[in-house]
Amino acid sequence: MRTTTTITEASAAGDERWRLFFALWPPPALAAALHALAGQCSALGGGRAMRVDTLHLTLVFLGEVSPARLPSLRALAATVAGEWQKAQAAAVTLHLDRLGYWPVSGIVHAGMQNPDPALMALADALGEGCRQLGVGLERRRFVPHVTLCRSAKNAPDAVNFTLFDWPLAEFRLVRSRPSSAGADYEILDRWPLRPAFSTSGAG
Ligand code: 2AM
Repeated sequence: MRTTTTITEASAAGDERWRLFFALWPPPALAAALHALAGQCSALGGGRAMRVDTLHLTLVFLGEVSPARLPSLRALAATVAGEWQKAQAAAVTLHLDRLGYWPVSGIVHAGMQNPDPALMALADALGEGCRQLGVGLERRRFVPHVTLCRSAKNAPDAVNFTLFDWPLAEFRLVRSRPSSAGADYEILDRWPLRPAFSTSGAG
């Protein structure tokens, strides 16, 4: 994955569109464990395992957006991150506790039986902010998941699934570019997701 912090939005052509999404990226050890699981799922249920560097949990899919919107999307993300951190009394750890299969799309995914309210609040705040910016979002229900395999023919029922913990540290704004390997994800920016309790006296 490429990591880019310098964006050429000022020089972007008027009708250019970038495919953007906000997402969580697992820490390296978790990504490696999920990738190993994806390999087992692919071996048993078919389908294409996601590359280790592409594993993520989408918070909000924005679709095709003009890069001229990047400054306002960044400002939104900074505000949401700041408010979210103030609202947390303690660090948040997600629990990936179920392996799922969506037969229509052939997606095998790791998900959560009872998603953490803090995660839902983060996705809600980003989604609502995007709507207020006029970014056209699909109205589909947010089902937090990490896609492990695509185009699987069968559910990976025989896979032995154990719980994965995911301590939240940051979220990212990412650009998806089509590539021969499926998609390349370019990190445009990132914001912290740690509670504000360490900043004494902060309001
Ligand atoms: P998926 O992994 O479940 O397919 C980048 O495309 C990310 O945005 C993917 O994680 C994808 O979820 C998610 N996404 C959500 N809605 C999408 C859409 N309509 N088209 C493509 N990707 C979408």
